[in-house]
This record gives sequence, C-alpha cells and structure tokens, in this order.
Amino acid sequence: MSDRWYTKAVVYCLDIDTFADANGDGIGDIPGLIGRLDYLARLGVTCIWLNPIHPSPDRDDGYDVADFYNVDPRFGTLGDFAELLHQAGNLGIKVIIDLVVNHTSDKHPWFQSARASADSPYRDWYVWSETEPADRNQGMVFPGEQSETWSYDRTAKLWYYHRFYRFQPDLNIKNPEVREEIKKICAFWLQLGVAGFRMDAVPFIIEQTEPGNPDSPKDFPFLTELRQHVQWRKGDAVLLAEANVEPGQLPVFFGDEGGSGNRIHMLFDFMLNARMVLALAREDPEPIIDALRSTPKLPAGGQWATFLRNHDEIDLSRLTAEQRDDVFARFGPDEDMQLYGRGIRRRLAPMLGNDRRRLELAYALQFSLRGTPVLRYGEEIGMGDDLALEGRDSIRTPMQWSALPNGGFSTADPEKLIRPVVTDGDFGYERVNVTRQRHDASSLLSWFERMIRTLREAPEVGNGTCAYVDVPAPHGLLVHRADDVTGTMLFLHNLGTERCVVDLQELAGEAVLPNDVLADREYADPGKLDALTVEGYGYRWIRLRKQT
Ligand code: NOJ
Ligand code: CA
Repeated sequence: MSDRWYTKAVVYCLDIDTFADANGDGIGDIPGLIGRLDYLARLGVTCIWLNPIHPSPDRDDGYDVADFYNVDPRFGTLGDFAELLHQAGNLGIKVIIDLVVNHTSDKHPWFQSARASADSPYRDWYVWSETEPADRNQGMVFPGEQSETWSYDRTAKLWYYHRFYRFQPDLNIKNPEVREEIKKICAFWLQLGVAGFRMDAVPFIIEQTEPGNPDSPKDFPFLTELRQHVQWRKGDAVLLAEANVEPGQLPVFFGDEGGSGNRIHMLFDFMLNARMVLALAREDPEPIIDALRSTPKLPAGGQWATFLRNHDEIDLSRLTAEQRDDVFARFGPDEDMQLYGRGIRRRLAPMLGNDRRRLELAYALQFSLRGTPVLRYGEEIGMGDDLALEGRDSIRTPMQWSALPNGGFSTADPEKLIRPVVTDGDFGYERVNVTRQRHDASSLLSWFERMIRTLREAPEVGNGTCAYVDVPAPHGLLVHRADDVTGTMLFLHNLGTERCVVDLQELAGEAVLPNDVLADREYADPGKLDALTVEGYGYRWIRLRKQT
C-alpha cells in the first residue's frame, strides 16, 4: 500500500473569511474554523486547503499579499494559526495553504520600496521596462476587469509587469534573491506545521518575462529546486499546483524529461473539470472517456487533483466553441452567470437545477475518477450562489451553518458581514444549512459523509489506476474501474435520464462476491454482472474484489 498520504486524501477548500466568525465582527476567523474542525472530521475530510491567509488589501480575495510571514489580523494571530494546526492534527486533518508568489500586492513593502528608488534593494524584485512594451495589451487573465499586463508607475517612471490585476505586480523569478525568498516563505510555514502548499499560478511564477515577448522562457528547474527544498525541510510535504495549461505541457510540471517526479506532486485537473461539466451538460460520458484516454502519463508519485467547483469561475476555455456553447446553454444561459467569456460563476447545485439525483451523480463521478478529490466548502450541503455580487464573489458567500441569523456564520449585524449570506429562495440559509441536514439521514450532507467513508475503504481510487471499461454500453452510461494491489472497484454512472441495463459478465472472472458499496438506490444483487441496471441519473459503485 502506498504511504503517500496525498493519494488517499479528501481535500476541503475553504476561505477563512467566509467560514465561521467567532468574535462577531462579521468576518470569519481562525478561532471560528477551529470550532468547526469536528464538523470537517465527521465529514471525512483529511486535508484542508486554506485560500490565502496573509495580510492583504483584499482586492483579489487575499490573492494580493502584503506580508508573507503573517496571517491577516482580521483572521487572528500566528498563535491562533499554530493552534489551528495543532487542533486539526489531533483530528487527523492536515492543513495546506495557498502560496501566492507569482506576484505581491502593490501595497507590499517590497513593491513600495522598489518603486520609490532605483537604489532600493527591492527594485530588481519586480519586472520593469523603461519603454512601453509592445505586448502591453496581451495575456490578460481577467478580460473585462483588466485591460493590460504592463502598467506605468509614475513614481518609478517605469512600466511594471502584472500578469493579473494591475495592483498585483509580478515578482522577478530571474532574481536569485526572489527565488531564495520564496523558499524561505515555504520553510517558515512548514516550520509552523503546514503539510504543504497550493501553489497559485505556477506557469506564471516560472515565467522569465521579457518585455515585448508574449512567449517568454520558463524556468522549470526552479520547480525542481523548490521541491528539493520543501522535501528536505519536511519529508511528506506536498506541492499542489494550479497550472491551467494545455494537457501536453503538463508532464514537465510534475518532473523533468528524465521521467522522475521531482517537481510538483499534484496538479489540478482542469481538463477533466471542463470535460466533466461538458459530459453532465450533454448527458453523455464521451468527453470524460476522451479525457481518460488522452491524459498524459504521470511520473511515479505524480497525482491529479480532481474538482468540480473551486473558488474561481468554471473555466471552459479549453473546450471548443461548440462545446462551450452547450455548457453555457445548459448551465449558464444568462450573461450574468458567465464570466470572462470563458467561465461560469455559479455553484453546482443551482447549475444542476438543485436536482438531488444529478448532484449525487456529479460528485459520485468526481470522487470515483482517478486522483485526489477536492471539495469546495458548502458544496456538501448544496449551497447556492448570489449573482448580485460582483464577478467571482457570487460563489464566495458565507457558509450556512444553521437557521440562526446570518445562517449561524456570525452574530454581527447583517450589514457588517464580509459578504451577505444567501437568504432567499430555495438556497436561503433557512432551507439549506448544516444543522438541518445533520438531522436528516437522507440529506445531501449525510450522503457526502457516506460517500467519503466509502472511499476510505477503496484506496485504489486515489492511489491506483483508473481506466475506462470499453464494453458495449447504453448511451449515457460510463463504466470505469480502479485497480491497485488492494483490490478493484467498478463504477457505473448513468449521465442520461433513461434507466439502462449493461452486461459486464466479461469481468465476472475477476470478481469475488461483487456487491454495491454505494448507489443511488437499492439495486438487485450484481450476481454474475450480466444484467446490471442503473436508473436515470443513477450510479453504482461495485466492490469487485478486495485483497485479503
Ligand atoms: C489564481 C487564483 O485561483 C485566483 O483566484 C486569483 O485571482 C489569481 N490566481 C491571481 O492570484
Ligand atoms: Ca471575526
């Protein structure tokens, strides 16, 4: 059995500021999160990924860092953070934090110093140009909210580069001092006890930006260097990276051309994310099959992180225009639901019409496909979104704990809340909340607990091989399997509305007492696997064989 913890982890992503507010100022905080760790333990979460925790002007929800060596005072103190790590550890939960080192906030003292004087020791920590770069209006990540990647700084009398918003100047990775500082930041948090990092914007971190060259070279060896450093400081620490690039370019993020996994341990599977959403929209598993077939092979120890929702828009930019239109038509028909011309700014429950069958189907699918599942807070109770909020804030509303005022998130006056709680309609906190679902054994929350517990007994899912089972199957049905030395799981997911029956007797020879371990309902015993029924939007997880 593999002892790499991240291959069997269930990762839960949350932002401290919208999770639980302990001191009643309207902003979630670390003591609030500590108070909810038991909830996460019961859910079966084994690793929490915290969105940025550092002091920040908060113009990009914390992804504009003003001090890498502290926590935002609104969240608590470093002492509170150390306590969080200890208490989470007691419950068997690891904590990873966002490492946002592609850029800093323009309010960071480094940038303030760098712009103020050519003699500043920090001048060369950023990327400057004396003349207006020809590619100034290229490469924007947030079209509509951002019009350029080079802006003029009147104090420095120079142009500075910013891949993201103009208040996020890029750090200069070519500068060895910057590289050393990034390592020092990692070492600091590892020393405090974090289990690793979710690395923001990795393809941009390693970009050795040259003015006028939109295709600047990339410093991949830095990833090797960083991995070495992190692993030396803490043997089982992990790097989980955001690298939303073409699939063919992904392997070099995991490791060098020699085939060893000496860089990033885990990458988010953006391609599978878009394909899953497309498959759900079309009620056709073909895009997933395609993704499974075309996924590049990973070096040993390399692992995918799967997700359906994260804190950003669902990025459909790697689908064809026709595929994207199908997803928009089904899941985000109003312009208001779309973002940057490429994405959807809704949570999954409203996208799926709050249809419990489809929600279970979607998450059963995500959690059974290869890799480590990542779940965004609130999805486990089917929270909705607030399209009245700007941009990505629509999916960043406070966690809904109970029917108490503010959904039990905070005792502050509602107008003091960091963001309004969803109050109206089917997704209002009086209807959708943890306490209510806790009392209901048939709730979505109870289902998530069961599903995650089932995964605990199926390490082959995260750790083993995942393959499409190529058999004649009714339209809409996906058959796949997971195998490793501990056994085999077989999965049937019916993306369509019609009940179907599939003959899998060719697998019977491998089966030892096959039985359903999770399904949308009670089905007849799998028997000889020759007539397996799956209802419309139904699913069956069948334990085929377990090594004894
Ligand atoms: C990627 C993060 O996921 C996103 O939320 C953020 O705005 C950008 N990086 C810039 O840091
Ligand atoms: Ca607070």
